Amino acid sequence: MQRLIINGGKKLCGEIRIQGAKNSALPLLAGTLLVGKGSCEIKNVPGLSDVYSACRILNSLGCRCRWEKGTVRADGTELGGFEVREELMRTMRGSIVFMGPLLGRLRRCRLTFPGGCPLGSRPIDLHLSALRKMGVSIREEHGVLDCSCPGGLKGADISLSFPSVGATENIMLSAVLAEGETVIRNAAREPEIEDLAGFLNLCGADVSGAGSGTVHIKGVKELCGCTYEVMPDRIAAATYMAAAAVTGGELALRQIRCGDLRAVINVFEQMGCDIYCQGGEGEGGTLFISGKKPLKAVEPVRTMPYPGFPTDAQAIVMAALTLAEGSSMIIENIFENRYLHVDELVRMGADIRAEGKVAVIKGVKELYGAKVRAADLRGGAALAVAALAAEGTTEIEGLHLIDRGYEEFEKKLSAVGADIVRE
Ligand code: UD1
Repeated sequence: MQRLIINGGKKLCGEIRIQGAKNSALPLLAGTLLVGKGSCEIKNVPGLSDVYSACRILNSLGCRCRWEKGTVRADGTELGGFEVREELMRTMRGSIVFMGPLLGRLRRCRLTFPGGCPLGSRPIDLHLSALRKMGVSIREEHGVLDCSCPGGLKGADISLSFPSVGATENIMLSAVLAEGETVIRNAAREPEIEDLAGFLNLCGADVSGAGSGTVHIKGVKELCGCTYEVMPDRIAAATYMAAAAVTGGELALRQIRCGDLRAVINVFEQMGCDIYCQGGEGEGGTLFISGKKPLKAVEPVRTMPYPGFPTDAQAIVMAALTLAEGSSMIIENIFENRYLHVDELVRMGADIRAEGKVAVIKGVKELYGAKVRAADLRGGAALAVAALAAEGTTEIEGLHLIDRGYEEFEKKLSAVGADIVRE
């Protein structure tokens, strides 16, 4: 079992290149299954265990896929299988987005319920009901989903009762090769949805409206390979912003899209950080952040679907707020059990009360090093943020969870002055 050992209290200074977005790379990789002609080259794909799991899934289906130095080459011209093995499905929640492309391309798939972080019950009812509306018959037996649509997928008008990111992606991925037009209403508006549409359109799909609440997909006969670059990871960016904030450091975060981070930037500005964006809207921008100790408490932070404050940044911002003068409140609206990091932060001296959706954080003067355990990916990153500011040594167990989402985490942090090693 690997651990992170962090000696806190070092001010971080320098620059960090932000990795490609995990949550965009996974659906894009699944999307390569739809490509029947030519191969895909996807750049800026972060080297993460979730990405390697996605490549394993693709290879197991007969799509020749390889990650090398940030580029994935995937050739799915000759798919051989329609079944994703249980141990592969269990590695991550994102594995559910393989369902749509398999149905689109092969009209059949067999897989189990996905795994992922334990954030409360994570149903897939929205995915399944949309696919049924598109003509898929789904049999659920002993945790196995056996899906088929021998006559092919049919376009449909689908209204989501909640703008689920995964369901929006899965529907888009199934609809590109379906017969006729699909409309997704109350679609998720996350930037990763636009990135997926960008990739699919470059392959010859006809997707419009991605990034708005209504997405239109006109089915096409075939997709062709292309070269595409994954968007920057806004949650990794938020994590390094928190690392600068709690250490009173100064970081330049390169290869970032500041426009995707507005809700997060707003909270760090309330904490008293100075933030300056250069080239904010497009690719390749830089965000400069300078943390001013002591940080200040903020207005209530409510996690919401995009463009609201992202649930994935909740734990990370909470770690920073443990050191902010005054009381702050977080309301977690997306997942029912996303406070697994609270008890661990309390072990480090934080003053947090969490009940149901609400957590109240009273800022303390100092955190201290302790032995803590990551229970989920972003919660683990939050412990690392707290440890960077804490007095003394922190040992974080469960590093494999952090590795699911952060490329070269300790290397990037030690390059800007953190005392952090993997053991
Ligand atoms: C994606 C992200 C995850 C992020 C989340 C919300 C990936 C791989 N993961 O997860 O990091 O935290 O978006 O921004 O991109 N729900 C249902 N039924 C469904 C689907 C979802 O009730 O069929 C509920 C979920 O339980 C949850 C909420 O909808 O309460 C949001 O989930 P969703 O947007 O689907 O998140 P994911 O796609 O799983």
